[in-house]
Amino acid sequence: MHHLLEMLRNRDAAGVARGIRDQAMRTRVSVGLQRDLRSEAPIPCARIPIEVRTASGAEILALLSSTGGPSSWHERRELAIRESHASQCLGQGFVAQEPASRRICFIQWVLRAEDNTRIRSFFKGRFPPLMRDEALFENAYTPPDFRGLGIMPAAMGRICEIVRSQGARLGITFVDHLNEASLRGCRKAGFVPYLIRRDYSFCGGLVHRRVFSPLTYLSPFSPFQPQNPQ
Ligand SMILES: CC(C)(COP(=O)(O)OP(=O)(O)OC[C@H]1O[C@@H](n2cnc3c(N)ncnc32)[C@H](O)[C@@H]1OP(=O)(O)O)[C@@H](O)C(=O)NCCC(=O)NCCS
Repeated sequence: MHHLLEMLRNRDAAGVARGIRDQAMRTRVSVGLQRDLRSEAPIPCARIPIEVRTASGAEILALLSSTGGPSSWHERRELAIRESHASQCLGQGFVAQEPASRRICFIQWVLRAEDNTRIRSFFKGRFPPLMRDEALFENAYTPPDFRGLGIMPAAMGRICEIVRSQGARLGITFVDHLNEASLRGCRKAGFVPYLIRRDYSFCGGLVHRRVFSPLTYLSPFSPFQPQNPQ
């Protein structure tokens, strides 16, 4: 609804029409990607030096609230999602920071099988339950000032190493199929598509259906084809 109001304020007629149509029926397609954490994939380098470390929910919450006022509705929503996750202290939080300025340039959580009950309630069944040796990478966020510097794949690559040293064998993550930046970042960190999740929502979300389909065949022209990390 806030999104619709913002588009009305901006006199974005096409956006308003899209918003009304989406209230009637909306389909969201997400790609599940996985990586064998035991494989020795090279860790991509970011275009600035970064250090990766764990951080508590409270620390991440404080960092997010000092991230300045994001302008667009979309950006505010991205921040609000991370704030909500941080306030739940769900899973292990990681941050990447620029050593010179100490500024935080990436945030992500890793969740494990012991979090399954809380994953189910917090994410409302969006993820299949995790096995004991699986790790779910969730809610990656690079603040706008740091985007496009290759920080996501570099940080995720290092987080994979840490999580592997904690005994995880398989890394899993889900990305909206239109989120090209995140798909590219995940693929550069060695994750490859294996599952498609479709969420159908009708009547403004009153009726909802979710379908998981394994990706058994990928056309050579598919945008989900794995890429070689460079
Ligand atoms: C997705 C996100 C984490 C990527 O972080 P990042 O540190 O900027 O990642 P990168 O610098 O590696 O950029 C990713 C790739 O996408 C490209 N890219 C960036 N924005 C893009 C866009 N709008 N459309 C297409 N490609 C884009 C980059 O050029 C880069 O590709 P390249 O390495 O081949 O040049 C960041 O954009 C973000 O926080 N977005 C909002 C939250 C979000 O979507 N999180 C992911 C949830 S699954």
